Amino acid sequence: MTVPAVARARAAALRSLIEQHNHSYYVLDRPTVSDAEYDSLFRELQQLEQAHPALLSADSPTQRVGAAPLAAFAEIRHATPMLSLNNAFDDGEVAAFDQRVREALGVETVEYAAEPKFDGLAISLVYVDGVLVSGATRGDGNTGEDVTANLRTVRAIPLRLHGSGAPARLEVRGEVLMFKADFARMNARQSELAEKTFANPRNAAAGSLRQLDPRVTATRPLKFFAYGTDAAAGGVFTRHSQTLDALAEWGFPVTQERRVVKGCNGLLEYYREIGVRRAGLPFDIDGVVYKVDSLAAQNTLGFVSRAPRFALAHKFPAEEAVTVVEGIDVQVGRTGALTPVARLAAVTVGGVSVTNATLHNEDEVRRKDVRVGDSVVVRRAGDVIPEVVRVLAEKRPRSTAAFVMPQRCPVCGSAIRKAEDEAIARCTAGLYCPAQRKQALLHFASRRALDIEGLGDRLVEQLVDRDLVRTPADIYALKAETLAALDRMAEKSAANLAAAIKKSKQTTLARFIYALGIRNVGESTAQDLARYFGGIDSVQSADAETLQQVPDVGPVVAQSIAGFFAEPHNRTVIDALLAAGVRFEQREALKVSTDGPVYGKTFVLTGALPTLTRDEATQRIRDCGGKVAGSVSKKTDYVVAGADPGSKQAKAIELGVTVLDEAALIELLKQAGGA
Ligand code: IVH
Repeated sequence: MTVPAVARARAAALRSLIEQHNHSYYVLDRPTVSDAEYDSLFRELQQLEQAHPALLSADSPTQRVGAAPLAAFAEIRHATPMLSLNNAFDDGEVAAFDQRVREALGVETVEYAAEPKFDGLAISLVYVDGVLVSGATRGDGNTGEDVTANLRTVRAIPLRLHGSGAPARLEVRGEVLMFKADFARMNARQSELAEKTFANPRNAAAGSLRQLDPRVTATRPLKFFAYGTDAAAGGVFTRHSQTLDALAEWGFPVTQERRVVKGCNGLLEYYREIGVRRAGLPFDIDGVVYKVDSLAAQNTLGFVSRAPRFALAHKFPAEEAVTVVEGIDVQVGRTGALTPVARLAAVTVGGVSVTNATLHNEDEVRRKDVRVGDSVVVRRAGDVIPEVVRVLAEKRPRSTAAFVMPQRCPVCGSAIRKAEDEAIARCTAGLYCPAQRKQALLHFASRRALDIEGLGDRLVEQLVDRDLVRTPADIYALKAETLAALDRMAEKSAANLAAAIKKSKQTTLARFIYALGIRNVGESTAQDLARYFGGIDSVQSADAETLQQVPDVGPVVAQSIAGFFAEPHNRTVIDALLAAGVRFEQREALKVSTDGPVYGKTFVLTGALPTLTRDEATQRIRDCGGKVAGSVSKKTDYVVAGADPGSKQAKAIELGVTVLDEAALIELLKQAGGA
């Protein structure tokens, strides 16, 4: 069946448009259309191709979603072998390389093209008359695997060359890789789906490209950088740097990190510059590559065995190393988080000696099954804390035991708890645990808690380090003379602090609850709890079920509160605080009717009300068991609007939320019994 000329022309136009947008988005990182516009062009092309199957061709962007699965990869013989590079590990080896090159060429200084050494996998792409016809892995250098169908799904690889200057047959060499952030996201998703996760971006890129089902590859965030062409493209250019510029014009991603430098000093300067920037680059590199820039000179130099004489890979110190786990400690952080940490036989990783590596949490240790005595791969990426990547199972000694998380806090012996929705276990003795001391004291004294003016970072450091204060209750036993003896304290400031400490004893129940630093209990929850229970005793003795009666307290928060008060160490500190004279006005527990019109409802206040201040209105709504939020959403029950209400009222109307004036609010509060 013949295809109408208009349809053919439209399909060609759509393909070119879509590929231009792909190029802007995936290669230049500068999107030119909205997702919606892109999708609409894409769908139009799909529909045209469905209506006229004769229009379908392998270089259509619609084919990037992945073809049918293969039984096995075919082999592709490389027209020119894919060689390897000689390595240098120190400056001396680079100087020797430069000297050999100068001598062989008989010149004083040499210009080099310098590039990052991408840590992905090498591939070769063949274009005939501008169209991608095949793509292969390096394999043994002579023969690779035919991964054409998979490579077509990589958006950064042009299916058709841009412009017109390219030779009729062009072979492009480059590296397929995964960006670090994409890798982290993909691994997280894989583990959520209980699918295979990968140790590093290179393995993830290799695993994704070597999928027999191209539809799987299509879902993986693969990227590509071109770094050269085969000899056939030679002739056209005189310098390697020109080749790279041309590749960029033909639509390939070529790294911005490339430079042309002079002599050995230029090479070493480049190496150091990239070394500094390495951690901040979006992709992993394992060194830099130097290539004599002149193609004529490259020819003269030629090859020795399997590597070119005109190029050199200057490697960075390895970021992974193998060592032995000598112990597994459990550290307690400032917030009580328990982190298992592997103690390692010292090993150099990325140029730094490493003796500890994080194991993150119990689930991770179990998943990786790290045991004392194991040989493990440790990895250090940039300034990130070193981590244990995996265990070398074949090296495991005979009698080892699986790691078990301690049942009690290794620092203070208190109960530990792991919330259902969290991977991290925590010590529940926030008020007592030495590991959490400084944090607990700072929070306790903070403005919205007990508001002890002048008790900041520096003082807390000193008080704890000199063992003058262990728990918040100890603050109330401090004498002005003791304070005056601290660094940076004069008599006057010591007296002021002593007065602030004394003053803080008169507080409110809500501030007191907030000051305890219970996980998930912020100011607003503390106020709700105070209002609901009226006294500290009833909060302490409430079980998780009772706690959930409080507006906005769900199971997670309730568990966290109950867990806190269940720990005897915390109760001892609370008793000591009360014994030290901390007092709050003991209000009667509020008896709001839970079926009143305000209980559990969410209000948003906007504009100036005629008689009530914002604080008064908030207080009265809360007294009736309602909640006051800052912004209007579908969850808002009422918007209370005063003068000049602005966008919140408009939003309420748009969402169909009831808008009240002050009189209507007061009426509602009356009905709720909170007049
Ligand atoms: S040029 C004839 N440039 O390094 C040499 N290779 O050891 C052709 N690689 O498998 C290679 N980044 O995958 C070249 N900018 C770069 C590179 C690079 C990474 C890899 C390549 C090859 C290995 C050579």
